[in-house]
Amino acid sequence: MGWLFLKVLLVGVTFLGSLYPLVDFSFSGDTRGQKPNFVIILADDMGWGDLGANWAETKDTTNLDKMAAEGMRFVDFHAAASTCSPSRASLLTGRLGLRNGVTHNFAVTSVGGLPLNETTLAEVLQQAGYVTGMIGKWHLGHHGSYHPNFRGFDYYFGIPYSHDMGCTDTPGYNHPPCPACPRGGRPSRHLERDCYTDVALPLYENLYIVEQPVNLSSLAQKYAEKATQFIQHASASGRPFLLYVGLAHMHVPLSRTQLSADPRGRRPYGAGLREMDSLVGQIKDKVDRTAKENTFLWFTGDNGPWAQKCELAGSVGPFTGSWQTHQGGSPAKQTTWEGGHRVPALAYWPGRVPVNVTSTALLSVLDIFPTVVALAGASLPQDRHFDGLDASKVLFGRSQMGHGVLFHPNSGAAGEYGALQTVRLGHYKAFYISGEEMLRRREVSERVPMNLAVDRAEALRPERSPPRTCRFSLMDKMLLE
Ligand SMILES: *[C@@H]1O[C@H](CO)[C@@H](O)[C@H](O)[C@H]1NC(C)=O
Ligand SMILES: *[C@@H]1O[C@H](CO)[C@@H](O)[C@H](O)[C@H]1NC(C)=O
Ligand SMILES: *[C@@H]1O[C@H](CO)[C@@H](O)[C@H](O)[C@H]1NC(C)=O
Repeated sequence: MGWLFLKVLLVGVTFLGSLYPLVDFSFSGDTRGQKPNFVIILADDMGWGDLGANWAETKDTTNLDKMAAEGMRFVDFHAAASTCSPSRASLLTGRLGLRNGVTHNFAVTSVGGLPLNETTLAEVLQQAGYVTGMIGKWHLGHHGSYHPNFRGFDYYFGIPYSHDMGCTDTPGYNHPPCPACPRGGRPSRHLERDCYTDVALPLYENLYIVEQPVNLSSLAQKYAEKATQFIQHASASGRPFLLYVGLAHMHVPLSRTQLSADPRGRRPYGAGLREMDSLVGQIKDKVDRTAKENTFLWFTGDNGPWAQKCELAGSVGPFTGSWQTHQGGSPAKQTTWEGGHRVPALAYWPGRVPVNVTSTALLSVLDIFPTVVALAGASLPQDRHFDGLDASKVLFGRSQMGHGVLFHPNSGAAGEYGALQTVRLGHYKAFYISGEEMLRRREVSERVPMNLAVDRAEALRPERSPPRTCRFSLMDKMLLE
């Protein structure tokens, strides 16, 4: 199999959060015979500890915490990969990157995308009579046939990739600092910052660019408006709908929202979290007002926080990966450590999903495809293997059975991209390659001048490199602005 048996590390996995007994649940609000609507909201780079319901230190997610109390919260729910494109490709195909071909992030210059012979969830539901919409970050290829409108979505509104992959006039908070687009069409390159390219970030509505560069300060509001309009129009059409929302939050740059007067609230990350929470709240309110009994809302994340962004990254909660951090590596985004892989997850469907329940079932973003297809009464494409499972029994409180075994693919922290070098088996997790070295090297090599080969070689010697630390504080600077 070509696996590198460098290290095998068994880690006991503890479950946090109190475990509420599953209530015996009976159906109410008879909607049988009528296909349910689906709203899937995927947060970006959100930490497990960024959800207040998961982690008491977080007090910025009022709407999401309410949704947890009104539905089911999953405490052992996993991204399908630890970076954006592979995670999203797996959500839309129900298959791991080794099968669907997406093991890396796509770049601004990528000409390809999610392979065209993959069948997306949207295509399956479209076939089953659904109206399908996608709002937000796509990141599965933006040229020609890779565009969302050709991958099963009747409607698309959003940005083609991450919002640090292009310049804007409203860049927001990022580390390293991310200046606005250059004036007078004269591109300037700054090697030390990674949030700028020569292309101004475009905002699409279907096949057309409607704003370029996009105004990041008003993007959340636009997403809320487009999502509520979509839900309104789709409901009025009398057909069931699928809405997939890929939030820009909590990826950097964080938008420059009004920081509150309360010193605690002046942290840009907390402000961003509240903005995201409010956006999700607006979408949920619209669902409640329009199609409450017949809409299944699923909220989760694409991977853990981007720890290299220091104060501008989210919280891994209790999953600090002390072994890994002791080796000098990060336990967050890109890695298969819990902080990078375990994500917040909530299911809300009044009358169907039991309320105020915590599930410890081992589940994954991979399960969204088979579950939604089953609930829609559609059938899975027969000519391929799926890595997810139909989790509807768990959702309806009739089972606690998730995956017995769940593989986690490499996402750039170590080894070959996409290779399955971490595995969860019950309460244990085995790492065949732990990933501390690559992240440490990258972190160190970022710090050295690009043209000094000698410093670079020095920095690549792992035993010489200090643990990854956040050596700067942006806070003082920000508060002065
Ligand atoms: C799609 O094409 C690739 C390359 O030919 C192949 O490896 C893969 O198995 C195909 N996938 C499906 C679902 O047919
Ligand atoms: C961006 O949107 C914000 C909020 O709507 C607005 O106040 C600001 O003027 C806009 N900026 C630009 C450059 O258009
Ligand atoms: C949810 O359950 C917890 C623990 O059983 C309880 O303390 C809390 O009051 C419940 N909340 C709601 C809104 O029912």
